[in-house]
Formats: sequence, C-alpha cells, structure tokens
Amino acid sequence: MASTHGAQVLVASNRGPVSYELREDGALHARRGGGGLVSGLSAIGPDAGALWVCSALSDGDREAVRRGEGEPGVRMLDIPADVHADAYNGIANSVLWFVHHMLYQTPLEPVFDEDFRRQWSSYETYNRAFAEALAAEAAEGAAVIVQDYHLALVPGLLRTLRTDLRIGHFSHTPWAPPEYFRMLPDDISAQLLKGMLGADRLGFLTHRWANAFTACCEEFAGGPGDTRIGVHGLGADADFLRERAHRQDVQDRMTSLRTEIGEGRKAIVRVDRTELSKNIVRGLLAYRHLLDLHPEWREQVVHVAFAYPSRQDLAVYRDYTAEVQRLADEINASYGTPTWTPVVLHVQDDFARSLAAYRLADVALVNPIRDGMNLVAKEVPVVSDQGCALVLSREAGAYEELGEDALGVNPYDIVSTAHALHDALTMPPAERAERTKRLAASATALPPAQWFLDQLNALTR
Ligand code: G6P
Repeated sequence: MASTHGAQVLVASNRGPVSYELREDGALHARRGGGGLVSGLSAIGPDAGALWVCSALSDGDREAVRRGEGEPGVRMLDIPADVHADAYNGIANSVLWFVHHMLYQTPLEPVFDEDFRRQWSSYETYNRAFAEALAAEAAEGAAVIVQDYHLALVPGLLRTLRTDLRIGHFSHTPWAPPEYFRMLPDDISAQLLKGMLGADRLGFLTHRWANAFTACCEEFAGGPGDTRIGVHGLGADADFLRERAHRQDVQDRMTSLRTEIGEGRKAIVRVDRTELSKNIVRGLLAYRHLLDLHPEWREQVVHVAFAYPSRQDLAVYRDYTAEVQRLADEINASYGTPTWTPVVLHVQDDFARSLAAYRLADVALVNPIRDGMNLVAKEVPVVSDQGCALVLSREAGAYEELGEDALGVNPYDIVSTAHALHDALTMPPAERAERTKRLAASATALPPAQWFLDQLNALTR
C-alpha cells in the first residue's frame, strides 16, 4: 500500500551513515560515517524528504533500534544477527564479491552445497526485509536508489510490492563477465538478474561493468528488457578533501611521517582496506623486485603502506592480512639497515594520516586485481602538494578515466610493476606536476553531489 506521506527519495544500503557503540555504562554512542553516498545525499538538502534505509550491523546498532534511538532521516532495520551474518558474510562477501571481483581459486572453490543454500535463503530474507521497509516508507511515486550487491534482489521484490515507485540500483563494484558469472548455480544467477532487472534503471561506475552486466542479461535473461542502464563515474570530493587535508591534525601527521620516512627519501604510498582484491601482497613483491632491479634505490626510497583491517569475520581476510604483515617484515629483515626501514606498514585506520601520506607521496601505488572504481587513485592527485606519479592497475575502474596520465600496470605482473615504480620515481618533477594537474581534473569531474543528482534525475525523468 502506498503511503500518502512517506519519503520522496529513499536510498537503501547494507551499511548506513551512522553506527552505534554500546558503552559499558549502558549508554549508546553514535558515530557518523562519510563517503560518496553521504555527501551525495546531502546534495538534495534536508527538506527533500529523504530517507536512508540500512541494516543494523552490530549489537550497538540493534540496541539503538530496540530503544527507538535514531537519527532523523535514517531507518535502521533490526535484522537478526544470524540472518545478517549469513547474508553479509556468507553470500554478499564470500560469494557475490568473489564472483564480481573474480577472486576464486577455482580448483577448490566455490562449492555450492547445502550450506550455501541455507545462506542463500538468509540473503533472500534480508533482501525481503529491505523491500518491505522501503515499500512501507515510500510516498506515492517516490524514487528509491538501492546500493550494491548486498541488495541485488531488492528491486524485483520491491517492484511486486509497489508498482508506483521509480526504482534505481547502483553497483559500486565491478560486474562479472558472463563466463565467470555462469559459475553460479543457474537458478541463483537467474534470480540475481531478475532482482536487478526489477529496477527502472541500473547504474554502474564504468562502461566496462555496465557492458558486463548487459552481456550477462543477454546470455542468461534474454536481455535487459525495459530496464535502462547508465554509467556514473563517482569522482573525488575536491572541496572536502582540500579543506580536510590542510587541518592541523594532518599537518602533525605529515611531520611524523616525514620522520619515519627519513629526510630526502622518496615515498611510494598506498592506502587500502586490507581487501583481497587490492593486491597489497603483489605490491610488496613488486617493491622488493624494484630493490633488486635497481639497488641504487636502497636507502633512497620507502614504501609507505597503509592497510586497514576489513571484514575480519572472514578467515580468508585474516589470513591475507597476516600475509601482508609477514611479507613487509620479511622485506624489512632482508633489506633494512640500521638507518633505513624499507617498508613502513600501518594497519590502524587513521584518515588524517592517510591524507598526510597523500600530500607527501612521490608515487602512489594503486594496483588492484579488479576494482569498481578506486577512489584513492582519484584522491591522491587532488591533495598532492608537489605532484605525485600514479602507478595504476588497468583493472581498476578509475583507469577508464585516469589511464592517460597514470602509468598503467597489469596487476599480476610484478616485474612490469617494478619497472613502472622505477619510471614513476624518476619522472621529471615538471612532468609529474603536469600529469597530476590533469589527473586531478579528471578525478573531480563528477563530485559525489552531482553523481547522486544525475542518477536521481535520470531515474525520475
Ligand atoms: C567497498 C565497495 C562497496 C561496498 C563496500 C562494503 O567500498 O566499493 O561496493 O559496498 O566496500 O564494505 P563493507 O565494509 O561494508 O563490507
């Protein structure tokens, strides 16, 4: 039933803009997050009647829902913890993320067994909870934009509940090509496509991912039908970044980073969540190869790697995090000297320190196996003080827009990545500055606010 009041614009995502921590004294502490969607949504203003539907992710979040505490404009769903764990860890992160990023080691995985079927039914339950909440909250004819692979079934489910709504979906990840997508059980791939095609319009970050989706539709669903498909390459938020990067806390961290690196040395910087697709291990291997190939860089360069923990509920992520640490230690043990630590690895998330590293980087290394966009590649050139050479994987979505002024690499080829690092380190300062200027212009072509408005306008047109 369409509500006569209700929200005019709704977004739905697994992770919402706020999270709650239950303190020992029983008090709830709210923390607001950032990101493209937060600033995108702020573009339509507080009076637009917008509602953000998200899932409770922690015990603190669930407690907040039960106590009726919440932020205006946000509705958090109290999805049972076990259902959420199966949907989020089991299906979204262990299956859909792996399929779209092509991460399986296929001789042994995936195995679609009874356990998978059980988790899949939780994924259906979780998607249904979102569809029902959106159906209950949306005003007649409202626009709904659903986010990401966690909620791929929502458009189809919502369509059956509310035919009056304009339904969009946006994918922040790549989409798998048909030869990889067909690895899923036939009924599951059909259900996923049917869910997505319940939308009026689907958004992707690049043409490459949009084309892969269309190819999957043609092969497994008889084409995309009436669903429109658009590309919106989310850009960096220049105003926010430049202001934030010049505050005192960033300045302080630049001073301590400079001490860690050592005066006069060059810095190859990477900043990532410790995510399997980010290829941090091969980045370290390429750096080690650089030190072998060009021993003249020893003592002269430091690899500053920030690898922030992510999805630590999954064993494969914990193992990967340990391997990053082990390899960094090994490089330091074999190449380090009393006056030089070749790899400076930090795993404690600190946004101010990330910005400090962006500002002083001589080279940024962004070498994912496969990545929807990769905003680090777009943020570094925006805040860089002296210009920064960008070594960029051709498998990152950002390569579609930044490829011309970056040094492109095949992320699996550590020898060519080592050569690219050398070329980046030796790039003449004037060329580096020129390229950085052009990179920053491309990187900020579609700021989050415009990115969101474009989707909304295209959906309601
Ligand atoms: C990355 C991806 C998004 C995804 C998010 C989920 O940022 O680009 O597509 O929604 O990860 O991260 P989380 O920490 O919530 O699992």
